[in-house]
Amino acid sequence: MNSKIVPVLAIDGPSGSGKGTVGQLLAERLGWHFLDSGALYRALGIAASRVGEALLHDADALARLAVSLDIRFVPQPSGAPVRVILNGTDVGDAIRTEDSGRLASIVAAVPQARAALLQKQHAFRRMPGLVADGRDMGTTVFPDAILKIFVTASAAVRAERRYKQLKEKGFDANLRRLLDEIRERDARDAALTASPLKPAADACILDTSSLSISDVVDRIHGLLQERLAR
Ligand code: DC
Repeated sequence: MNSKIVPVLAIDGPSGSGKGTVGQLLAERLGWHFLDSGALYRALGIAASRVGEALLHDADALARLAVSLDIRFVPQPSGAPVRVILNGTDVGDAIRTEDSGRLASIVAAVPQARAALLQKQHAFRRMPGLVADGRDMGTTVFPDAILKIFVTASAAVRAERRYKQLKEKGFDANLRRLLDEIRERDARDAALTASPLKPAADACILDTSSLSISDVVDRIHGLLQERLAR
């Protein structure tokens, strides 16, 4: 079957915009597959650092490792983050740590690694449809997506959301520091030469600063139904 006929909903945006939770809830509601592309970069970063941190800076070896990686996702209910199985072993919470985010941002800046992960991302495109979450889903990975959403929220709102999340989990958190980290991460993501964070020309921009998760899910679901009915 031509994979191009499988509809893709591309959801891109910066960290903390809520796109991950929204994407998973939409995939659940639609009964579609879900690609957490950030988790692919995180898994590659973890796998590379296990071999040795030097590998993180060897573009060709990194690309070879990316091609050979066996990565599987196990979807979780109610918008909870997917579990990641790397070479047959559940990575556990290590996939969501700040350190795996740091490793991911290093490998994400390597064009050869991005190219090597492209095929893995395309393999997620299966019937009846795919919700793909990331930074470059609509621009690079699935340019023919049926609907492209670029989710934004002000840095202050994203810092507050992260602050609440950490507090709820019982972690110590500093709002000012979180805000600085988010601004730094935005600047790094926007500066990526291989795939900078920017909306596709045909993306719908959705500012979620004053919207709840369920509002965002409903809005995107409505837009998607319109597109599918065309
Ligand atoms: O969304 P996240 O925090 O799990 O992403 C981790 C890192 O991977 C972040 O630095 C951005 C990068 N990334 C990317 O470059 N392209 C994607 N499609 C997804 C994530």
